[in-house]
Amino acid sequence: MNRYAENRRFLKSNFSEFATLKTDKMKGTPKPPEFKPYEPDSQIIDLPAVTENILTTQNIYTCIKERRSTRFYSSEHLSLAELSYLLWATQGVTGVKGGLTLRTVPCSGATHSFETYLLIRNIETIAQGLYRYLPQEHKLLLISKLEEIEHKINQITLDQPFVPRFASKAAVLFIWSTTPYRSEWKYDLTAHKKILIDVGHVCQNLYLASESIGAGTCAIGIYDQALIDQILGLDGEEEFVLYLAAVGKKQ
Ligand SMILES: Cc1cc2nc3c(=O)[nH]c(=O)nc-3n(C[C@H](O)[C@H](O)[C@H](O)COP(=O)(O)O)c2cc1C
Repeated sequence: MNRYAENRRFLKSNFSEFATLKTDKMKGTPKPPEFKPYEPDSQIIDLPAVTENILTTQNIYTCIKERRSTRFYSSEHLSLAELSYLLWATQGVTGVKGGLTLRTVPCSGATHSFETYLLIRNIETIAQGLYRYLPQEHKLLLISKLEEIEHKINQITLDQPFVPRFASKAAVLFIWSTTPYRSEWKYDLTAHKKILIDVGHVCQNLYLASESIGAGTCAIGIYDQALIDQILGLDGEEEFVLYLAAVGKKQ
C-alpha cells in the first residue's frame, strides 16, 4: 500500500463516514464547555475596545496583496490596543446564534475548539510572560510572568529553516491549542480534518490584520510539541498545541 494512503484519506471529505456514526451529541452526552474555565482569583487584564481607528491600511486589497511571512521585526513594541485588535481579529466574538458564539473567523459547526495563548515579549505596558485570551470577555488572563523568554521561544521553535531564531525577536508569539472534544462531540471521527482547516482561517486573519497595522507575522508549524504543551500546562491529549505564529512591527 502507498505509504501516504492513510494520511491522504484523512484529507478527503468524510461525509459518507459521518452518516454512519453516532456522535456523542446524538447520544445526548452533555456538550463540552465552549470556553476553558479559569480560577476566579486569576489576574485579568482589560483590553482596549477594538475600533477601526487602529488601522494604518484600510484597504483589504492592499493587505491581501502585500501580505508576506515576515521573519525580521523592528525593536518597536506593539501597543496593547494593537494586540487587542489582533486577538479580536483571530478569535473575537462577534455574535451568538443558537447558544454558540460566532467569531471573526469561520469554524465548522461553530465548534471553536481553540484557545489562544500568548508568549509576550514586547507589548507596551504588559510584563513579559505567558497569557491566555478570554474571547467571551475580550480580556487577557495572566498565567505566569517568565524569565528568559527569548531562550524559551528558541527552545520551542526548534531549528527554523529560513531564519534561525526569528520567533524570539517578535513582540509576541501566538500559540493556538485545540481541545478536540469540542469538535469530536459533534463530528466524532470526522472532527480532526475540520480542526485543521479551522485553524488555517485563524492564522490567515492574523496575517491580514497584522498587515493592516504595519506589523508582520509568520506562521510556525515547526515546534517542540512536548515542550510547548508542558510550558502551557496542557495534558497533550485533551488539549494540545496545534499551530504558532510570531508577530512584530515590520522593519
Ligand atoms: C502551516 C504552515 C506552517 C509554517 N511553518 C513555518 C515555520 O515553521 N517556519 C517558517 O519560517 N515559516 C513557516 N511557514 C511560512 C511559510 O514558509 C510561508 O508561508 C511560505 O514560504 C510562503 O511565503 P509567504 O507566506 O511569504 O507567501 C509556515 C506556513 C504555514 C502555512
